[in-house]
Amino acid sequence: MSLIKAVMFDLDGVIVDTSNHHYLSWKKLCLELGYNLTETGNEFIKGLSREDSFLKIIDMANISFSEEKFKEYLIKKNSYYLNLIGTITPKNILPGVQSLLGYLKKKSVKISLCSSSKNAKLVLKKLDLISFFDFIIDGNDIKMSKPNPEIFLTASKKLKTEPRDCLVFEDSQSGIDAANNAGMIVVGIGNKNKLKNSEYCFPDFLKIPDHLKKHFFNEEI
Ligand code: BG6
Ligand code: MG
Repeated sequence: MSLIKAVMFDLDGVIVDTSNHHYLSWKKLCLELGYNLTETGNEFIKGLSREDSFLKIIDMANISFSEEKFKEYLIKKNSYYLNLIGTITPKNILPGVQSLLGYLKKKSVKISLCSSSKNAKLVLKKLDLISFFDFIIDGNDIKMSKPNPEIFLTASKKLKTEPRDCLVFEDSQSGIDAANNAGMIVVGIGNKNKLKNSEYCFPDFLKIPDHLKKHFFNEEI
């Protein structure tokens, strides 16, 4: 009997390294606006919606724009991003992700994508992963950006699973906070010295399977 009934995956930085593509696109736009967005600054916007990311950048850079310019810059950032992801293929899927998805399918665990990105379906299609997911929720479907728990709570309702029976994989602090706010078990993917409030944290998916099978699926290892 599995302890976990549904697994929710973030996309950027969890399934594929497009968090870097987002960073490079914001960095390019910021340089045009006279602001140097560093990797440290990027940690504050990681996981946020496009709009909230830009609001945070505006705050960090101490600049301001008309609403018209704001929208114009968001379109520009997205065009930089679309250009960068133009060449991604299944080869860009992060190591260990496909075998974990296969394992969860065999276990009949429900799988959801919970991404703040409005480009999530496009990216999943490019990666040829759409068929693994029972439910996909992205930036087009939610009103409140992570760390608000809306995205995870919506997915758990859709999958008819209690939040406490859901496991979330997240690489951003805002995503980890959102999963905790939803009352779910969260596994951080990344540097455990940088990610706070995740009970479990692994540098990547290659280190996870045994731990996951033993602790969340009651398997003897
Ligand atoms: C998240 C990324 O998944 O999606 C953020 O972590 C990004 O960095 C956000 O800003 C929104 O993405 P998009 O594709 O809608 O601009
Ligand atoms: Mg992410």
